[in-house]
Amino acid sequence: MSGGIQFLPPEASSLAPQVDWLFYTLLAFSGGLGLFLTALVIGYAVKYRAGSSADRSGRVARNTPLEIGWTTATLVIAFALFGWGAYIFVQRDHPPADAIEIAGLGKQWMWQFRHAGGQREIDALHIPVGRPILVTLGSQDVIHSFFVPAFRVKQDAVPGRSTRVWFTATKPGKYRLFCAEYCGTAHSQMLGTVYAMEPQDFAAWLKQEGGGQSLAGSGERLFSSLGCSGCHDGGGTVRAPNLRGVFGRPVALSNSTTVMADERYIRDSILQPNKQVAAGYDPVMPSFDGLIEESELQEVVAYIKSLSTQEGSR
Ligand code: CUA
Repeated sequence: MSGGIQFLPPEASSLAPQVDWLFYTLLAFSGGLGLFLTALVIGYAVKYRAGSSADRSGRVARNTPLEIGWTTATLVIAFALFGWGAYIFVQRDHPPADAIEIAGLGKQWMWQFRHAGGQREIDALHIPVGRPILVTLGSQDVIHSFFVPAFRVKQDAVPGRSTRVWFTATKPGKYRLFCAEYCGTAHSQMLGTVYAMEPQDFAAWLKQEGGGQSLAGSGERLFSSLGCSGCHDGGGTVRAPNLRGVFGRPVALSNSTTVMADERYIRDSILQPNKQVAAGYDPVMPSFDGLIEESELQEVVAYIKSLSTQEGSR
């Protein structure tokens, strides 16, 4: 990482070369087309300049094969570029199942990251190279945007919603992290550094940081201190769905539809519990909107997710 403005950031993720190929192809194509049209403009301007002896009789000549040819060619090229871009976009949107999850939170004006083991960092993100990393993003206040040019990824962190971005770093090093969405006075100072490390160095770093309570562990504590466990652990007077094994499975709703229990569903169920009520249950859960902080919400979601992964590994 060097100072000043980087016009060509290094290619440091598995996605970066693909994005660059597409970008430079588009640039070459647009540049070539632009030069060609400019040449025509200049050529004709010279040919038909005042006083030249060029033919100005205005004869209309059609060339059907040529017209069909260029219409088809541009159509094919446009669809090919679209397909290429869509392929990269879809890939960018589907994290591999074995990705390491890190909870990221944007707030005025800093980035906070928490690892599964509870290690917490501000304006810094340590990751191992060669492993897919999935950063789930939340925002405490306004829209921020997680942007690492060297990885060619950018994703908004939107209040009231959980978004995500994934990448696999390929080269150890320090890379810049920006906030790429104007978010108030100190937006320009909402910077961070991504430390891509060799896996053994990363393991050593995690160990050295300790972390104490894991993310899911903090979530479990909240789950009982906020009173969720009273209803959701069974045994209480109020009947509520048991959340063990719920994550990642389809849930039947009271309106006879089905929804996949993903992060969005869990999160909505906490903040707007009456929006999608599980079939067979009364809509009696109070909303926790305003009672739970964004970072706590991420912990509770991590806990509920862990209830399913434990199930799977048993
Ligand atoms: Cu946060 Cu701009």
